[in-house]
Amino acid sequence: MSIIYMDNAATSWPKPPEVSEAMVNFMKKTGANPGRSGHRLSIEAGRVLYEAREAVASLLGIKNPMQVVFTLNVTEALNLALLGLLEPGDHVITSSMEHNSVSRPLRYLEEKGVELTIVQCSSTGHLEPQDVRTAVRANTRMIVLTHASNVIGTLLPLKEVGNIARECELIFVVDAAQTAGCYPIDVSELNIDLLAFAGHKAMLGPQGTGGLYVAESVKLSPLKRGGTGSRSEFDIQPEFLPDQFESGTPNTVGVAGLGAGVRFILEQGVETVRRHEVLLTKRLLDGLNEIEGVTIYGPLQAEEQAPVVAFNINGLEPSDVGFALDRRYGIMTRVGLHCAPWAHRTIGTYPRGTVRLSLGWFNTTQDVDYVLEAIAELCRQGHHGFVEY
Ligand code: ALA
Repeated sequence: MSIIYMDNAATSWPKPPEVSEAMVNFMKKTGANPGRSGHRLSIEAGRVLYEAREAVASLLGIKNPMQVVFTLNVTEALNLALLGLLEPGDHVITSSMEHNSVSRPLRYLEEKGVELTIVQCSSTGHLEPQDVRTAVRANTRMIVLTHASNVIGTLLPLKEVGNIARECELIFVVDAAQTAGCYPIDVSELNIDLLAFAGHKAMLGPQGTGGLYVAESVKLSPLKRGGTGSRSEFDIQPEFLPDQFESGTPNTVGVAGLGAGVRFILEQGVETVRRHEVLLTKRLLDGLNEIEGVTIYGPLQAEEQAPVVAFNINGLEPSDVGFALDRRYGIMTRVGLHCAPWAHRTIGTYPRGTVRLSLGWFNTTQDVDYVLEAIAELCRQGHHGFVEY
């Protein structure tokens, strides 16, 4: 049975061949520690990191590649942004569609005396910018928002909220886990101060890669301190980017792959990627809509969402549906709460969750049609189809 991979919102797969080639090449030919020594292999490793920074900067409209800080994943980047800025007495505004990578650090900070407002989104995940404006107080320091829901794909109004942040002189933090690499983003146009990205999702890099764009104006404290290969004579952490936030030997082999993944996207053009994924999402939504017994969640408009579609089959548990799709049809999905219980409460699917199909650059219309046939068959069989489990 061949594999139909529709779990790209968790980690994209497959990757362009250039990604593993870059990683193998680094391991075989370079392998050294970047920025620590003056020998040619160390300099080459430094070049690999810098070229990946350049590619990420070019993808996200970042003027200076040194403002791209590499992290282990988007969660680490978000922790750096939130824990590195918010202090007791500060007020922060967020949405009810956030992932645990935002909600858990914020709940932790709340215990330490940070005030939190969670702006309620609609059951389709839409956020009303005016509700954000109304929530601003004298002590508001930051707005943190996901760009697109990892559960139902809904795109949040970054432009409008970015304007509110600028007007009220607030720091604007964006979780671009589901959009960096598959949706055009320009940090300057959107007034974004800190943008967290996942390297292993739509940017097509390997797991263990991610990062944070840090605007020059933001004074952020590091999460960790230590060796950077720079200013080694001083006991204090250097205060320049990216060294201030990149203590310890980096995941250079992973970043080699990430650089190759991003360059692949730049070659296709992120608009081309977006068009391809909108077409597939539309086909999936239209097809699901015609299957009796399926409930779809979210905007149900491909243009208004990232390529993520959540659904349930009436009368069946999401976990059973996901298991059957894998075992019987070779279709990889993610079921349950998707590390985003706030979002599931917002759309009314807590605590059962949903089945989630998430598309990527390498999915085809044939994949979508095959998945639709499989779901239609499961619906026709209903409970009877599950006796073998
Ligand atoms: N946050 C990732 C997801 O939504 C892992 O699946």
